[in-house]
Amino acid sequence: MKDQATPSSTITGQTWDTAAYAANGRFVATLAKGVVELLAPRPGEHILDLGCGDGALTEELADAGAIVTGVDASAAMVEAARARGLRIDHHDATALPYESQFDAVFSNAALHWIRNAPAVLAGVHRALRPGGRFVVEMGGHGNIAAIRVALQAVMAGYGIDAEETAASLFASPAFYSRLLEAAGFRIESIDLIPRPTPLPSGMEVWLNTFRNGVLDRLAGADRAQAVARTLELLRPVLCDSDGNWIADYVRLRFRAIRD
Ligand code: BEZ
Repeated sequence: MKDQATPSSTITGQTWDTAAYAANGRFVATLAKGVVELLAPRPGEHILDLGCGDGALTEELADAGAIVTGVDASAAMVEAARARGLRIDHHDATALPYESQFDAVFSNAALHWIRNAPAVLAGVHRALRPGGRFVVEMGGHGNIAAIRVALQAVMAGYGIDAEETAASLFASPAFYSRLLEAAGFRIESIDLIPRPTPLPSGMEVWLNTFRNGVLDRLAGADRAQAVARTLELLRPVLCDSDGNWIADYVRLRFRAIRD
């Protein structure tokens, strides 16, 4: 199912095709082992999975015995996650309605889609019980740098500012630490982790799945040409001699405690 306009997709133009995501974005959940270990979910505790997407990780947390609620701004993703039999709410991360009801808030590969981090952090703080933990992995400073530079260069030729259109937040540990502390969190750990990530379906599919908010500003031959030029720029740095594409991911991973 292709996503309808939602509060966050309206800002970035990004839409989610759940079938394409299931086929080409599964690696996002598969690579989340480290952040799930940092969360260390315990049986019986109440956990909010913020930006749960199609619920693959929400299901994993539930299988560990936690009582999990997922929340996502994308109607298509909410429908896909509910189809797994999970409890899923439909809200924008900047307007969370929860009050002191979770032992932990968890988020993987979601918060870099939202520039208004103070609004997210205020809602997470309200949602947690005192002493509750907030455990996150998201794109960090320098994330997909080569891909962004290539898109910026190509889209400029069509008068489009790709960085502004994508509206991502790839924060440094220092920047995000200041936001967390201002929102009332004590940081236990925060790290920037380079993680070159093999793309099983290749770069063209990645661009069409994760940068459609930028590319869909063009249509027909222009769009096809922009994709081809971007691939041409990226091939020497992100494609190995056997034709395997590796994205230049950098993760920001942290564990913080609500004061
Ligand atoms: C990320 O997980 O870092 C990411 C995924 C898609 C687009 C941009 C960033």
